[in-house]
Amino acid sequence: MKAAITATANYLPPDILTNHELEIMLETNDEWIRSRTGISERRILKDPAKATSYMCGEVARQLLEKRAMTADDIEVIIVATMTPDMLFPSTACITQSIIGATNAWAFDINAACSGFLYALNIGASLVESGSHKKVMVIGADKMSSVTDYTDRSTAILFGDGAGGVILEPAKKEGYGILDARMYSDGANGKDHLLMTGGGSRNPSTHETIDKRMHYIHQDGRQVFKAAVIAMAEVAEEMMSRNHLRAEDIDYLVPHQANQRIIDATAERMGVDGKKVVSNVARYGNTTAGTIPICLAELDEQHKLQTGSNLVLVSFGAGYTWGGIYVKWQ
Ligand SMILES: CC(C)(COP(=O)(O)OP(=O)(O)OC[C@H]1O[C@@H](n2cnc3c(N)ncnc32)[C@H](O)[C@@H]1OP(=O)(O)O)[C@@H](O)C(=O)NCCC(=O)NCCS
Repeated sequence: MKAAITATANYLPPDILTNHELEIMLETNDEWIRSRTGISERRILKDPAKATSYMCGEVARQLLEKRAMTADDIEVIIVATMTPDMLFPSTACITQSIIGATNAWAFDINAACSGFLYALNIGASLVESGSHKKVMVIGADKMSSVTDYTDRSTAILFGDGAGGVILEPAKKEGYGILDARMYSDGANGKDHLLMTGGGSRNPSTHETIDKRMHYIHQDGRQVFKAAVIAMAEVAEEMMSRNHLRAEDIDYLVPHQANQRIIDATAERMGVDGKKVVSNVARYGNTTAGTIPICLAELDEQHKLQTGSNLVLVSFGAGYTWGGIYVKWQ
């Protein structure tokens, strides 16, 4: 039996950082940011006492409430993040302690912007194998914790946010997560979008801090080109493998990095703009958060009906990318 998404939730911190505020901090302007990225504002988790696990906890609580479950019911918690509270223990274990999911085992995965799709694929496999019946999958990133607000090439792009789902066995055959394809290309991707400080290669020292190695560094042009090609290719692959025509797709849910990348993917698929989910203008790139945030918004707007065909596609640091086809139950 396939795995189905039975609940969705998201959490966006209330504080907003607008393009106009960035104009004061950096040599940039609202017009440039909107025309190159589609982003107008992003959310920031300002309270320094709150980390990624805080957002995961907020998502997890809502998921339990929506599905009328208790924390004890959850068997696994998978958190996709590249901004864990700390290197260890995992943010999934911290989330487990926040909600009191004492029966669960919990672990993080890091595939940057593709993290949620990787985690969803792993979670779905646990359900499909028959070994687990209630899996919580969360994508969350506090990107403001690794963003250099003196670097205009990255500071404009990222925001904080989280979203998640509960996976359970599908009630009927032919529904749920029907297909998934995941990819990585470290040889070509590992040097273009990275944070070099704080790991075992460059443990934190005064020098790594002075060199700003604890912030994101990105070759935007390279990443842009690779993202456009990979997202479009995996989206097309999902369509051809599952015999989906553009008109069969109810929603394309792409990773929210840049409106131009989203548009290029939709164009290659031939999907009408009305079916393309986009909130990058409001939230920027929340990394592992983008796709589950979109899913929760669609769900909240009652746009997901039994039989709706969703194609989820992502691309991120690594490089990592992937696609998932869901027939909504
Ligand atoms: C970052 C990104 C928006 C930059 O857009 P771009 O069209 O590629 O712009 P470029 O980097 O080529 O820069 C063009 C010019 O704008 C300038 N510029 C860069 N950032 C700027 C900013 N915030 N404000 C104003 N000007 C800026 C550059 O200095 C450059 O000036 P020059 O031509 O005088 O050298 C784009 O490359 C992108 O979105 N890349 C993918 C990023 C991404 O999605 N990463 C997450 C992983 S999925």
